[in-house]
Amino acid sequence: MKKISDRVKVFQPSPHRMLAAKAEELKREGKDVFNYSVGQPGLPPSKDLVSLFCQKAKEDPFNHFRYVSASGMYSLKEAISLDLKKYGGLDIPPTNIVITTGGIEAFHFALSITTDPGDEVFLLDPSYSVYWDLLKYLHLKVRKCPQTVETGFQPDEECIKDNITERTSAIIAVSPDNPTSRILKEDILKLIADLAKEKKSWIIYDEAYKHIIYEGNHIWIHNYGDTLNRLISVNTFSKDIAIPGFRLGYIYGPKEVITQAAKLKGILSLAAPVPGQWFAYYALTSGIKEKYLKEVLPVYRERRDVAYEAFRKFLPDAKIWKPPAGMYLFPDMSAYMNQLGMNDIDFAFGLAEKKAVIMLPGSIFGETGRNHLRVTFVTQTPERLEKGIQLVAEFIDEEKKK
Ligand SMILES: Cc1ncc(COP(=O)(O)O)c(C=O)c1O
Repeated sequence: MKKISDRVKVFQPSPHRMLAAKAEELKREGKDVFNYSVGQPGLPPSKDLVSLFCQKAKEDPFNHFRYVSASGMYSLKEAISLDLKKYGGLDIPPTNIVITTGGIEAFHFALSITTDPGDEVFLLDPSYSVYWDLLKYLHLKVRKCPQTVETGFQPDEECIKDNITERTSAIIAVSPDNPTSRILKEDILKLIADLAKEKKSWIIYDEAYKHIIYEGNHIWIHNYGDTLNRLISVNTFSKDIAIPGFRLGYIYGPKEVITQAAKLKGILSLAAPVPGQWFAYYALTSGIKEKYLKEVLPVYRERRDVAYEAFRKFLPDAKIWKPPAGMYLFPDMSAYMNQLGMNDIDFAFGLAEKKAVIMLPGSIFGETGRNHLRVTFVTQTPERLEKGIQLVAEFIDEEKKK
């Protein structure tokens, strides 16, 4: 029988991809599109790094474009191991690391390895939209706690205690977070570490934005007791060295998990993109990553401040919190959406259609994200941030008059 599987049929076309297509269409029509929807770093990768990579690839093309082992290039894993030691004081041997095709794949592996269909996992709501789909794809049951703007998107400890149980296979924590950009408080991460030990659960810790921090520090969860025994960390090179198109990330964790990750990688795609592995290797071993971050973070920080102030100025009834990290603002726009009788999806599509401003509807990140917008602040200049946010206010005024 010829058919399309239920496994894929359960997914509806995502508003995220539809809005991306809308942005392309508006561009083709010659419109000036204010696109705040992509999780793309705002500046290109380091020019020095691009030159170094091109020079090395020309000198030795065979090695830069061949197959490598499924777990990734040993030299890159060694460089990552030293990088984790340098920034987090971690002792992770190269053999406990697998290079993946982006952070998404690292997350997919972490879940596939630690759960079976029907198992329970714990997640905070809102969370990265793709994660909800992967949980559905793997037929997992979700227990969740809300994180809201009123508390700077910190979840409630009692809720966490109530929802992490003996049945929790994996606790998922993302810090700094997407879409909220908050850094989880140390008390919360410590509680998660304690509960994971008590309930014998894995911790899947997504550290995609660990270097994109403007105030405060990344919290390295391994510092709590013997957490390393149950910690699986998800990482990406998409944000810190700004190469999302190279599709490169990594996972580290206990040996029994990493052996399975290497096995899965071999089955699903043989190895992560090898030119990307070299690119990341040069970033880590040349000192360029550190230099690059020093250059880009002040630019992103200024953009965050401008976007935040523009919301305060043009949209005073939005409930907004200034995050210390990441790439996104996540304002609660209920006051406006309720007045207009619109939900966040209609609002986002209306805004795109009428003003060529693309922002993501918060509900794609979970129920608690309803009536919010996710606004990427790193990709636009201060002037264009101001202008785009002013256009949101104009859109609301015009809709009110209808
Ligand atoms: C929290 C989080 N984790 C993982 C990823 C995946 O990144 P990639 O697959 O590009 O490495 C993203 C991308 O935006 C993210 O926001």
